[in-house]
Amino acid sequence: MSSAGCLALMAVFAAVLAAAAPPPRSSRAVTGSAATVWCPDVVLADGWDPVLRRIMDEGPTAWGDSGVPENTPPPWMDARRYAAGKAFIARHTISVTFAHVHSLYLLLAVPSVLDVLVYTGNSDTPDEAFIRYYDTVQGVLSWYVSDAFTAGSWGFEQLKHVRWMHNLVRLDMNDNKHPEEVREKMRLAGNFTGCPVSAGLRRDLDRPLAARAPRPETDAQPFSQDSNKKSKYMSQYDMAITQWAFVGPLIQFPDRYGIGNATEEELDGFVHLWEVLGYALGIDDRFNFCQGGLGPTLRRARQTLAGIVLPSMRRARPPWEYMTRCMADGLGYVLPGIDFRSQLANMLRVTLDAPSPSVEALLTPQQRTATAGYRGVLSDIKENGGLSDSVSSLFLQLVPTLRSLPKEQVKKLRHRPPHRAEGCYARIRP
Ligand code: HEM
Repeated sequence: MSSAGCLALMAVFAAVLAAAAPPPRSSRAVTGSAATVWCPDVVLADGWDPVLRRIMDEGPTAWGDSGVPENTPPPWMDARRYAAGKAFIARHTISVTFAHVHSLYLLLAVPSVLDVLVYTGNSDTPDEAFIRYYDTVQGVLSWYVSDAFTAGSWGFEQLKHVRWMHNLVRLDMNDNKHPEEVREKMRLAGNFTGCPVSAGLRRDLDRPLAARAPRPETDAQPFSQDSNKKSKYMSQYDMAITQWAFVGPLIQFPDRYGIGNATEEELDGFVHLWEVLGYALGIDDRFNFCQGGLGPTLRRARQTLAGIVLPSMRRARPPWEYMTRCMADGLGYVLPGIDFRSQLANMLRVTLDAPSPSVEALLTPQQRTATAGYRGVLSDIKENGGLSDSVSSLFLQLVPTLRSLPKEQVKKLRHRPPHRAEGCYARIRP
């Protein structure tokens, strides 16, 4: 679909939304604030949250799979909260989708996560990334629309499959008899001296982040395998940070994703759903990012974004731009409105409330139109209080269509050659 077509589709959705406002909500609404994003000193005023501290201190050296039996719900699962989380997702599908896409931009800036993606080499061209992230979308959707713990269901099969796949890569990297080869495969060769967006992003992030003096006692050192020989690949730290990526941006900024009326029960349900999924994917209870419910998770999320993720993004290593661009272009094969530069600009400006003149200066007129379209859709969704049940179910009816898409044909139809700009390209392994 062309970007004009994508925008048209989104405009149709926005119009339907306007006609289908849901009833007012009874419980207290939660609104996000971007004010603390740029002030780690504020979110860390009382020190690091103890669970997050443990994730940072002990997580990197802890094997990434706890070994709990597969497809078994945790003994502490609360069916009512879990169901509330699913109902929240069903009501806010578009918002959740955009939040997850933005999370990938942020997550890929974390060195220990990016290293693994470079290592597997399964997402370093738009075509490869399309297949890789298409499968990821399928996996996550399956847990949102079906029951991950009922034998034979779509979610059940996906949960088993993802855990198996993670363990395969984990074993391949950690138990490899040739650690030098592993390290070599984690390096994306190429020329990244002139990656325009990374440079612009650095300039834009430098302004708010450099305004404060570094504080060694609170500044987290984003963990990197290169600097710590005893660390594990795909560790509990990586799993927990990925869990943050799924929940953090959405619970921190629900209104900025168009959810102006989220209640504490809904957000808590969403957090619990991810607490359960994290457990089932092998996150040890000691490292589960979502433990303790909405309040503690929100505090942890703010600290993670301000103290770990944004500093990582500010010094994002050169392959970040290349790999993230592949991700966005690959997702753009099927998701309307996803374009690397315009979504990055949206994340900075709309979600994080960050002036981003350098990134915005790089937008083409078409990308500017796309950012305006995104903002329009979100404000329509917000004004109308989210998706009504009927519109949500319409949207979710697209899921089987997505599932049955012939991937290879979509790939051929939407094919984009590997990115190759002067001064910013990867040398792809055959
Ligand atoms: C809450 C945590 C996580 C969730 C929910 C999750 C979800 C998924 C899903 C749905 C897939 C798609 C499987 C398929 O191809 O069908 C996948 C694959 C994969 N994931 Fe994860 N993941 C998580 C954490 C991580 C972490 C921490 C890493 C690495 C540091 C990672 C690396 C991979 C890799 C390497 C694959 C295989 C595809 C590839 O080679 O890129 N995942 N994951």
